[in-house]
Amino acid sequence: MCGIMGYIGRHDAVPIIYEGLRRLEYRGYDSAGIAVYRPGEKASLGLVKRQGRLAELIDHLEDFSGSTLGIGHTRWATHGVPSDRNAHPHCDCSGRIAVVHNGIIENYAQLRKQLILEGHDFVSETDTEVLTHLIEKYYHNSLEAAVRQTLAVVRGSFALAAIHQNEPDKIVVAKNASPLVIGLGEGENYVASDIPAILEHTRKVYILDDNEFAVVTADEVIITDFIGDPVDKEVFDVTWDLVAAEKGGYEHFMLKEIHEQPEAIRATLRGTAVDGRVDFSYLGMDELFQKTGKIFIVACGTAYHAGLVGRLAIEKLARIPVETDIASEFRYRDIIWHPDDLMIVISQSGETADTKAALQEARRQGIKVLAVTNVVGSAIAREADQVIYTHAGPEIAVASTKAYTTQLLVMYLLALYLAEVRGTMNRAELEGLYSELLYIDTLVDQVLAEEAKIKQLAQKYAHVQSTFFLGRGFDYAVAMEGALKLKEVSYIHAEAYAAGELKHGPLALIESGVPVMALITQDHLVDKTMSNLREVKARGAVVVAICKSNLQEACEECDEQILLPDINPLLAPIVGVIPLQIFAYYMAVMRCLDVDKPRNLAKSVTVE
Ligand code: M6R
Repeated sequence: MCGIMGYIGRHDAVPIIYEGLRRLEYRGYDSAGIAVYRPGEKASLGLVKRQGRLAELIDHLEDFSGSTLGIGHTRWATHGVPSDRNAHPHCDCSGRIAVVHNGIIENYAQLRKQLILEGHDFVSETDTEVLTHLIEKYYHNSLEAAVRQTLAVVRGSFALAAIHQNEPDKIVVAKNASPLVIGLGEGENYVASDIPAILEHTRKVYILDDNEFAVVTADEVIITDFIGDPVDKEVFDVTWDLVAAEKGGYEHFMLKEIHEQPEAIRATLRGTAVDGRVDFSYLGMDELFQKTGKIFIVACGTAYHAGLVGRLAIEKLARIPVETDIASEFRYRDIIWHPDDLMIVISQSGETADTKAALQEARRQGIKVLAVTNVVGSAIAREADQVIYTHAGPEIAVASTKAYTTQLLVMYLLALYLAEVRGTMNRAELEGLYSELLYIDTLVDQVLAEEAKIKQLAQKYAHVQSTFFLGRGFDYAVAMEGALKLKEVSYIHAEAYAAGELKHGPLALIESGVPVMALITQDHLVDKTMSNLREVKARGAVVVAICKSNLQEACEECDEQILLPDINPLLAPIVGVIPLQIFAYYMAVMRCLDVDKPRNLAKSVTVE
């Protein structure tokens, strides 16, 4: 995720900005940059930006000593590959305005086209650069007014900070849907995307809310809404230490990332629709989408589990045969290819060796590959024919959580788009399902509110040696992900089974006290699943039902219930997995394990 750090005061700005950005390094980034105001007879803005680590900037910052105003940025690419040119800050044509930005400007393509027609020169591929040219366009001796006018025409999410060479006494900032804080000092002030960046200087901060705007000078901070009406804000006293602050006050990255899921879902949804329907026409794959006779979805681990849901969704909505396979198996299979096949690879990191090898094999066979990944510029993103990005932000915990839910979301979006292209759903159906996806973030929030109850469950079962995760259809796919999460972080044996398959062998393992986590979200399968659960209960298992609230009565024989909102069964995996993530997390915490870095595991598996 991108990081912002800005300073205005009486001290040398560069070391303060550099150190602030360094404090944000743990969040991951691919390029960095700093812009400062250089006073003097020929006052100007100084700018250095480089692809790679922050340290790449050091040799170029010497000239900037004595500057007391500046903004800096660490970038996690979303639009345009990681490169010097795409790094922030971005400047206008005259080089007098510099802007750093986190988030996504959804209507940037249209704005960019218009600004080019008006004579502006763009030097990067980023969405951010439209902000600098818009501010330039609207600038008439007031940076504040120009930024306000810019905000009136952009759509999307942003935390932005802007400076202008002609107004070296201020930083103008604005926030919508991306975090931004202002740190308060004595005769100096700070702006940052996250508290850890400024914690060494101050513990007094304003945490901006959406639609808030501020003019920050060395001696004061004036906060208004975008229109200019004053906002009354309380100063927040940060009591966390630095390590806690990096985790946003959470004890572990895994828990923080579990809680980031509503925002990750919103970010992934942004800009995916035109006229209320999903639009992936920009991929240029419509012809293949229309005629393909088979889709191979290939991935590893959690991404593979997202692919299992993808298969069910695509088959159901678009009526295309889909095969989902584990990449390490797929790459050595003797696949019967057809020229119109389509391969979809899913990978959070975009670097997984087996997934990459499967992709390369498909391309050797002349098969088109569509990648779904979270990392712009990753090997898989570069080698695939086309890419759909999840916008989960960097995932630091080894156990994947927000990457998974955003992968699920992309699978649904793709299934909807394929259904439209193939004509298997009508307009009303397409719009109806898309609108259900639009509020799924709020349903995830509702499930997150059940955290305390799930924690109690973990307290009760943290001592067990073995667990089972059962479900049918979509629920089976989610059960697989729940079991993986539990073994990965708590080291407890967890076995996922299709509920109807149990009596063909594994039932022999069920004994008194074994917890069975049962996913029950598929209305048409509830009776079938319940009869399987009676079989395990009869053998002494303790059944924990994760069930939709409308199915509560049907599940009342279960020993415990975690209720999910009454969601369309097709979309239930996105909410159904949340209690399982929280359960796995607290099971690991109760067992005093290293939750974020489980033994023997790496975040990115770049070897076979
Ligand atoms: O980066 P990828 O999505 O390609 O990684 C695939 C798996 O290694 C990954 O999902 C792994 O299973 C996770 N640690 C599970 O939480």
